[in-house]
Amino acid sequence: MKLFIGYASKEGQSRKIARHIGDFAFDTGHSFEICALHDASELDLRRFDSVVLVAPIHVGHYPKSLSQFVEFNQAQLTEVDTRFVSVSLAAAGYDAEDWRGLDHITQDFSEATGWIPADIMHVAGAYRPSKYDILTKFLMRRILAKKDPDADPNQDREYTNWSDLNAWLNGWLNP
Ligand SMILES: Cc1cc2nc3c(=O)[nH]c(=O)nc-3n(C[C@H](O)[C@H](O)[C@H](O)COP(=O)(O)O)c2cc1C
Repeated sequence: MKLFIGYASKEGQSRKIARHIGDFAFDTGHSFEICALHDASELDLRRFDSVVLVAPIHVGHYPKSLSQFVEFNQAQLTEVDTRFVSVSLAAAGYDAEDWRGLDHITQDFSEATGWIPADIMHVAGAYRPSKYDILTKFLMRRILAKKDPDADPNQDREYTNWSDLNAWLNGWLNP
C-alpha cells in the first residue's frame, strides 16, 4: 500500500507520531510520503491508496493548516481511503467527560469541513513545558494538575501509548 501521511504539529508530538506511522508502515512492507500540511498544497492524493492526517488539539481546536488542507482537497479526500489521528492530552486516560469532549471536537470538525474519515484514532500527546511560553506554561500546569496530579510540572512528559497505536496501525495496514 502507498500512504500519504500529512501532519500538523506545534510542539512536535504529532510530527513524532506521523514519523512513527511512516516507520511502522515501511517496516511492514508499505511505502509512504510524509509532509507537513502547511507545505502540502497541489498534491494529487489519488496517487495514494490511503491518506492519514495527524493533528493535535490546542484549546479545543485543530490547527488551521488541517482545515485548510481538508477544505482544499475536499473532492480528492472522498475518492481515497482516509484516516485521522487526533492527538490530545484528553486522550491520556479514561475520563468520560474528556472523551465526550473529544467526540464533540471531531464531530464539529467533520461537520465544518465535510470530511468523514473511515476511522479516527485518538492518541495521547505530550506535556512539554520546555517548549511553552510563560502563559502557556501557566495554562498547561492547570491542565496537568487535573490530568496527572503526581506529575512534575517542570518536566516534559510523553503520554503517547505506542503499543495501542501499533495495534491500531496493524489492524488497518496488515489485516
Ligand atoms: C496551548 C495548548 C492548548 C492545548 N489544548 C488542549 C485541549 O484543548 N485539549 C486537549 O486534550 N489537549 C490540549 N493540549 C495538549 C496537546 O494536544 C498535546 O500537548 C499535544 O501533544 C500537542 O501536539 P503537538 O506537539 O503536535 O503540537 C494543549 C496544549 C497546548 C500547549
